[in-house]
Amino acid sequence: MNTFPKGFLWGGASADFQVEGGFDEGGRGLLSHDYETDGSLEEPRHHTMKMPDGTLIYPRSSFFYADEVPPEAEPVFLEDAYYPSHKAVDFYHHYKEDIALMAGMGFNVYRFSICWSRIYPNGEEEQPNKEGLSFYRNVINELKKYGMEPLITICHDEMPMNLALKYDGWSSRYLIDCYLKYCKTLFEHFGQDCKYWLTFNEINAVKGFGPCGTRKSDGHVRYLAAHHMFVASAKAVILGHEMMPDAKFGTMYAMSELYPASCKSEDVFHALLERRENWYFIDIMARGYYPSYAKQIWKHHGFDHLEISDEDKDILKRGQLDFVSFSYYRSNITQAGDPWFNVGGSINPYLETTPWGWPIDPLGLRHVMNTIYDRIQKPLFIVENGLGVVDQADENGYVEDDYRIEYLKDHFKAMRDAINEDGVDCIGYTMWAPVDLVSLSTGEMKKRYGFIYVDMNDKGEGSLKRTPKKSYYWMKEVISSNGSSID
Ligand code: BG6
Repeated sequence: MNTFPKGFLWGGASADFQVEGGFDEGGRGLLSHDYETDGSLEEPRHHTMKMPDGTLIYPRSSFFYADEVPPEAEPVFLEDAYYPSHKAVDFYHHYKEDIALMAGMGFNVYRFSICWSRIYPNGEEEQPNKEGLSFYRNVINELKKYGMEPLITICHDEMPMNLALKYDGWSSRYLIDCYLKYCKTLFEHFGQDCKYWLTFNEINAVKGFGPCGTRKSDGHVRYLAAHHMFVASAKAVILGHEMMPDAKFGTMYAMSELYPASCKSEDVFHALLERRENWYFIDIMARGYYPSYAKQIWKHHGFDHLEISDEDKDILKRGQLDFVSFSYYRSNITQAGDPWFNVGGSINPYLETTPWGWPIDPLGLRHVMNTIYDRIQKPLFIVENGLGVVDQADENGYVEDDYRIEYLKDHFKAMRDAINEDGVDCIGYTMWAPVDLVSLSTGEMKKRYGFIYVDMNDKGEGSLKRTPKKSYYWMKEVISSNGSSID
């Protein structure tokens, strides 16, 4: 059998601040990503922040990355810096055109995130921002017009700036209430049209960067923040199931396959321990309880106890996810003595890498699908996978991206084998990202993922014209043949 299962969901994925632009339009509040500059200025800058004495600092990762950012530093906008996400690729004004192009490929699902600060500009208002709701209502109507299923990420590594600065993000339990109010608003307004929801993006990145919005690197604070996110997610699932009986919930995990660097027992055992850092997040949210190895993870992060009330335990149990969704871009290797979460630390000599040094490993995807499914036994949804490279467009904006076709073809074959040969239940795939967008980790436009080229550079120059690449036409065939054209 060389096709995918009947009814397989084929589509693409993006995040609000990476595509929308319009950062100060429609009553939107400031967001934790708004301070990220492009990475290609002469003096490489990322997030722009200022100390009380006026000294500027430019943290390379998210500005919440505590090891680089003193707590007294405040985010600032600099006049001589460019902030690509402020304009991004202007999906805010081009959504009709973009959705029509996606429909032209035959997509039957589109994953996008709702910008929390478009709905609640500072996260604490009593009433939602009507303009924000009407923007997403229009997007959903447009998707429905073409028969596309919306897959909504409620929170993509972000939060209203006010919540980050005033409460130190998810380290405060108060954020659960703010998040629940936001979810309830989304379910009320969009629930009748949206079946698939993701409560958070890449939640297991809490230990390294962005999503929990705390500046403190202290392990206890970070894992407490994660606990608050688990409870918030479970409460959202419980509420969502009450309000929308057909709705299905997942959360997105960053799943790089992790191999031991050798067959030395110490390396293999080290890989097992390190993998548990990811399992921790999936087990708690998809199985509904803290696993026995949790204490070992806490100890590794310098603390030995996390207070979890009986009430929270009950919420986690009742608010389990319906499916497991994840991103897959690469694999990593690890060996005894390596720090945990050593992404990019050791080189795998058997794999080629992207220009950004990410190892390309399609078989790793099949491996990941099997290991998650074996363990959790819930349907999988691959909600991010793709190739970020520099594309050379001709004078018409056309890109002959055979390398992207090769990359996707190999990953699709691995995915199909996992489903058809290994018996993994996988309901869909959304490629990152159908329309070129601003990179999350580098803030650049030149790292392009799309099936559709956008005329926009790192300095904000360009006509924003959209042009399908060669891979666009290839993907159209893949979808219309439900995968058999990749042979
Ligand atoms: C995932 C994120 O981690 O990776 C996306 O959910 C991100 O937001 C994607 O864009 C690719 O990473 P990057 O850094 O190349 O944009």
